[in-house]
Amino acid sequence: MLEARVARTREGHPQHTALLGEWAIGKTTLLMHWRRRLEAAGDRVVLTMAYPQSRDDFLAALAGAVAAETGGGWTTKLDLEVGLDVGVAEARLRKPALQVEKELRTALQRGAHLGDHHTLVVMVDDVDLVATPGDALLQLRAIALELYATDIAIAFVVSASPGLFGSIRGAHEPLVRFFEPVTLGPLAGAEAAEAITKPLAETGVAFDDDVVKEIVELSGGRPYYLQKLAYFAFDAAERGTVSRAEFAAAFERAFASVSQEIFAARWSVMAPVERQVVSVVASETAARSSGEIEAAAVRLGIRPAATRQALHRLAARGHIDRLANGQRGRYEVRDRLFRRYLELQP
Ligand SMILES: Nc1ncnc2c1ncn2[C@@H]1O[C@H](COP(=O)(O)OP(=O)(O)O)[C@@H](O)[C@H]1O
Ligand SMILES: [Mg+2]
Repeated sequence: MLEARVARTREGHPQHTALLGEWAIGKTTLLMHWRRRLEAAGDRVVLTMAYPQSRDDFLAALAGAVAAETGGGWTTKLDLEVGLDVGVAEARLRKPALQVEKELRTALQRGAHLGDHHTLVVMVDDVDLVATPGDALLQLRAIALELYATDIAIAFVVSASPGLFGSIRGAHEPLVRFFEPVTLGPLAGAEAAEAITKPLAETGVAFDDDVVKEIVELSGGRPYYLQKLAYFAFDAAERGTVSRAEFAAAFERAFASVSQEIFAARWSVMAPVERQVVSVVASETAARSSGEIEAAAVRLGIRPAATRQALHRLAARGHIDRLANGQRGRYEVRDRLFRRYLELQP
């Protein structure tokens, strides 16, 4: 999909992409994979990471990174981190906004002209870390539209959590049209099983088939969970194999590790009402309508309006899943490890 978009960009019909996906679903890994493929095909790629920073600091850092990556001479060899440091250092000088935009435009123009007949692909990982991602994206769009007139081929690829466009009210429509969203979901069953068995093949340790199956199911195909569960299972191997018995203890250790690293922090930033509502949602495995959840929450003394608001916020932050169903959504906690964590909360 991306290669087709880059090819169209090269032919004079620029296409830009928003790669959307939950935390740890594999966005950064996919961007790096794309970068390798595009570079192998002769395209120029600038891959940068956004930070919590203002729009102007972000644009200045991006201009610095583009300049460092495409500047020729010794700077071409700079790797990502160094390129960023240059950008961040320049950003600290706090240049006026107009000058920042001009610098970015110039850097992009120069970068795109360096290539022979190829495309400049500018990737920004985690763009929603910028304080006002909508403003930053609008600015990138404005610069790209200006550059269309100059006949240079640039494609932007930004990554963010699935809530990106939902959080951008005013400029929602033009931005969704411009940064055409691609959503990265979890690995499908067979791919998830391979993500476990392929690396194992080199180790002399094997997992029983039902252990692989159970890890795949528990993980829901999320790479981070696959790694945690498989790592602790590997650690529990007896004489080169892991059967259900070994896995039971390994699961508890993996679950404790994920809870400590992820769930505890998630839980601690939730408002009291959100905690109650997320627990109500997690108490049933089947998805339920907002109305059903509101009714259950009323019994805990929560007003329906407060429940609705909590559901929106929880879904926007990826703590619960919303299955779109016309106007009215249905909600569930699909993440089995998180659901277990919630069940264990007092
Ligand atoms: N397709 C994949 N198969 C197996 N593991 C993956 C895959 N994509 C990513 N991972 C692993 O999942 C973890 C999270 O990936 P990452 O790219 O950092 O996610 P994100 O940027 O979305 O937070 C990393 O350890 C990575 O190696
Ligand atoms: Mg990432």
